Amino acid sequence: MPARADTALKDGPIAILGAGSLGRLWAGYLPAGHAVFFSHPPRPVSGPIHYRLKHPDGAESICQIPVITLTGARPYLLLVTTKAGDTVDALERALPSLPTQLPIILFQNGLGCQQAVAGRWPDRPVLAASTTEGANRPEEELLVHAGRGQTWLGALTDSGRYCVAAAVAQLQSSGLAIEAEPDIHQRLWDKLVVNSGINAFTTILDCPNGDILVDPFFLEHIDDLSEEIAQVMATETRRPLSAEEVRKRIYTVATSTAENTSSMRSDRQRGRSTEIDVINGYIVERGKAAGIATPVNQMLVRRVKDLTE
Ligand code: PAF
Repeated sequence: MPARADTALKDGPIAILGAGSLGRLWAGYLPAGHAVFFSHPPRPVSGPIHYRLKHPDGAESICQIPVITLTGARPYLLLVTTKAGDTVDALERALPSLPTQLPIILFQNGLGCQQAVAGRWPDRPVLAASTTEGANRPEEELLVHAGRGQTWLGALTDSGRYCVAAAVAQLQSSGLAIEAEPDIHQRLWDKLVVNSGINAFTTILDCPNGDILVDPFFLEHIDDLSEEIAQVMATETRRPLSAEEVRKRIYTVATSTAENTSSMRSDRQRGRSTEIDVINGYIVERGKAAGIATPVNQMLVRRVKDLTE
């Protein structure tokens, strides 16, 4: 279990919008009394939310996280852990009742949603997090922290830059590893590369991450896919990867998470909409903007949508 530095919250709790796996992970690790969930329409919840948190070493702790409504709330930070596709709508409802100086930290997978939020609220302090923490919910009231990871935090808007250090310091009280990242766009892209090469294949093939590496469908497309990702990445980031490096990263993560069910496969299994639009769909969109053909990414988007829509 992590040591919990009991820092005093000077200005209010850390509010979490979205009580899925990632939201519950942060709520469960933050010192007791520091985290609250927001009840937000269209999925209002009456709290508190109870669950067991199973740590990577097998130990379990009991979490009881208060739920507050937006009216009159004065949180210190807002962690947004909604699905990418729900995020702008959730913030449209939440932000009018929240102070304009409140730092908003986006934890969404993929890319596209972060830019949409920063573009919609350019004067607010908007930050993005990229994380390798692994968490899943095999049962409604059980959150499994599958493996310790690392989280990076960086600014998306000008006013966000002044909040990064304080937000990192507050979130470090969880005991989870988190540090400031001056180029969060690059970090988000590094993760997008991996998700683009794993998630859709595991969903289409309905298999754990490691099994894709020996499947003929994956083997047929991985070289062309890596080439498309590398070409689009070269137009988007300061530190692009070669096609060979893209391929290697995909193989490395699929191997190190071989037994895991990817988040996209899990969404499909639970009948939820997937994040394909902000993963391979984002590469298709940025490819179009740069005049780069992305037929393998397009095929993966179509195949996942055929399965889920
Ligand atoms: O989205 C996910 O599930 C994860 O980012 C990854 C790396 C594919 C491992 O399961």
